[in-house]
Formats: sequence, structure tokens, C-alpha cells
Amino acid sequence: MRQIVKRIFTAALACSMIFGTNFGTGTGIHIVHAEEPMKINYSGFMADVGWSAVSDDNRLCQAPAGSFMTAFKANLLNQPEGMTGTVTYSVNLSGSGWLSGVENGAETGATEGHMPLESVAMKLTGQLEEHYDLYYSVLQNGSWTAWAMNGASSGTEGMGYRIDGIKVSVNEKNSGEPAPQPEPPKADPVLPAQKQGKIDPNKPMIALTFDDGPNAPVTNRILDALEQNGARATFFMVGNRVSGKANVDSVKRMVNTGSQVGNHTYEHKILTKLSDDGIKSQISQGNSSVAAAAGVSPVIMRPPGGAKNDQVLKVAGSLGMTSVMWNIDTLDWKTKDKQKTVDAVLNHVKDGDIVLMHDLYGTTADAVEVIIPALVARGYQLVTVSELAAYRGGMKAGHSYGSFRK
Ligand code: NI
Repeated sequence: MRQIVKRIFTAALACSMIFGTNFGTGTGIHIVHAEEPMKINYSGFMADVGWSAVSDDNRLCQAPAGSFMTAFKANLLNQPEGMTGTVTYSVNLSGSGWLSGVENGAETGATEGHMPLESVAMKLTGQLEEHYDLYYSVLQNGSWTAWAMNGASSGTEGMGYRIDGIKVSVNEKNSGEPAPQPEPPKADPVLPAQKQGKIDPNKPMIALTFDDGPNAPVTNRILDALEQNGARATFFMVGNRVSGKANVDSVKRMVNTGSQVGNHTYEHKILTKLSDDGIKSQISQGNSSVAAAAGVSPVIMRPPGGAKNDQVLKVAGSLGMTSVMWNIDTLDWKTKDKQKTVDAVLNHVKDGDIVLMHDLYGTTADAVEVIIPALVARGYQLVTVSELAAYRGGMKAGHSYGSFRK
């Protein structure tokens, strides 16, 4: 679905490009420029807040701390009289993929729920496209992306990163990038400290991962330890376990404290023993269960038992999912021994590693309360899998990754 919608939009952009070339130029239409230069205004729907004030051309439109964009609209002002065309735009909504493009002033995205926008593409059409360049940039993962222009995508796809702000500017054709705008002062920090912490790509980083939960009594102890140490982790959850208030609250807390939600199928089924439809159903239902609690749909999955083959990866890829394995196996589920779990990590871990644990056992929480402060003291940044991947070459849907050592 995601791929299909995207192709339609790309095709639509290509068509309008052809249309512009054939009929737009050399028609002899006299262009009357309005007194005021053309510009674009825009607004974002910020989760739990509502539509932002309208931002003027090239001004930052930014969600307040703790919120993020779930919908978007934009409209042109002072369009030169007699000049054909409008602005079209499409958003990539987490869990849905690229939505169909809409035109000048229309809303796109979702104004209910907590699915964030992940990327945006915009362009001018008709004669406007020949006379103006449209630039846009999004605030993602703490920084503004480089300007994208004229139909290119701005923002990541399938990484689970949300858009926290946007700026858009329309400029005379080939006049270069818009002038940079000063960033407004940072809002009061209402988020946990680690969520605002920037990752230093030059410092070592590790992804701790927890499978088979949620299991609130243990999961919450792990979240406590993460929060107290400015750290985050990734939780590969079994869909049918995401039920009951305590477990659902744990999942919400993961997202609110910067950890990543992952998919460990709906019923912990060994995927290599299932048909394509069976694999698809286990992954899709797992995503739906987690998304219903988290407000964000997982983009990474871990096959139960680590059992994967080409068929599993192909089906996962068709759903936009990436498989994530591990390279440090603590065997915490087998030993149920705090010290052995601590040693398995602290005696072997290196920069770029993915550590496997399970948030089912009290002994694992005991170990985590030692492991997390010890790793932080050694200078490791404890990040999510998608963050680790982002600094180490990235991930592709339908592929599987076991570590991100340099
Ligand atoms: Ni498992």
C-alpha cells in the first residue's frame, strides 16, 4: 500500500512536469506580477495541541516540546495574475506511508491519533514551476534537514523518526537557497533529558534490546534504569502481550522516554514455519497491537527464535519492515542469573553492538540496573536500534542486521 501510493504520487509529479514542458512555456501568455512577491504560508497539526499559528514564508513552524507534527497544510499568497499552477504536497504518515498529494490549502495527514509525519514532498505546478523554486526542510531528530526542493522528499522514511517542525520557502527560479532563519530559543524542557540529548557520532554507542515483553513489573524497572541514566533502548514486543492497562502504560512510557518500539510478531510464532500469509499476518497484527498502544507503528522486527530465511525477509520487506538480530547474546532467559547476564554484556560489548535481553525476568532487571550505569560510565551512548543504524550506514526494509560495529 505504502509503495503503491508513493508511486502514484511520483507519477503525478512526473506528469505535471511533462505537462509543464509541453504547454507551459512559450505560450505567449503575458504574466502580470502582483505588487507583493509570491510567498507560501503553512501550518502543522501538532499532536495533543492542534493547528499551529500560520508561519510566513521561510519562518520556522515548530511543535512545542513533547509534541510533533501529524498533519500539514500550505497555501500560496500573491500568485501572479495569469500564471497557471498551484502548490501540491504529500506527507509520509507513520504506519500509512505516502498519502495521495493534495493542493493549495488542503489538509493532509491525520488530526486524530498520534501517528507522526515522517517525511514531506512538495512542488509547484503549471507555469509557477517554471518561474519559481519551492524549498522545504523539516526538523527531525533534533536538527533541520538540508533544503529539499521541487518534489524531492524531505525527512527519513521507515526509520520511525517524526517531524517536529517544517519551513517552506518559494523563490524566483534559480535564485539559490533561501536565507537561513535564526532558531527560536529552546522551549522549556518538559521532555526527559535523554530525549533532547544529542548523539555524538564520534563517541561509541550501543543498542540494548529487550524481547518478549511488555511485562510491566520488569519493563518498568528497565525504563526506570534507562531514564535515570539518560539512556534509551529498543523493545521487541509480542503483540498479544500488549494488553491490560499496566502493559499498555509501559509501552506508552517507552515512546515518551525516547525508547523505540519494535515488533516480535503477534503470537511469538516461528516465522520460517509459516506461509507468506501467515508471516504477513503475524507481523501486521504485531504492528497494529503495538501502534494502538504506542501511537507509533514499529518499523523494525525481530523474528522469534531468530528464525529467518529469504521468505521471511521478503514478506517483512513488503511490509516496509527491517529485521534486527543481535551480536551479544546474554542468555538471560536460560541462566536467570544476574551476574552471568552482567558479565555477558560488560565482558564482551563493543561500539556498535546490539545486545539481546528479555524484559520478562526480575533477574534481567537486576542485571540491567548494573549494566546501564556501567556502560554510561565507560562512555557509551545507549541509543535505539534506528539511531545506531542512522549513524552507521542505515538500514533497508527486507534486510537483516546483527550489529553496527565499525
Ligand atoms: Ni522471543
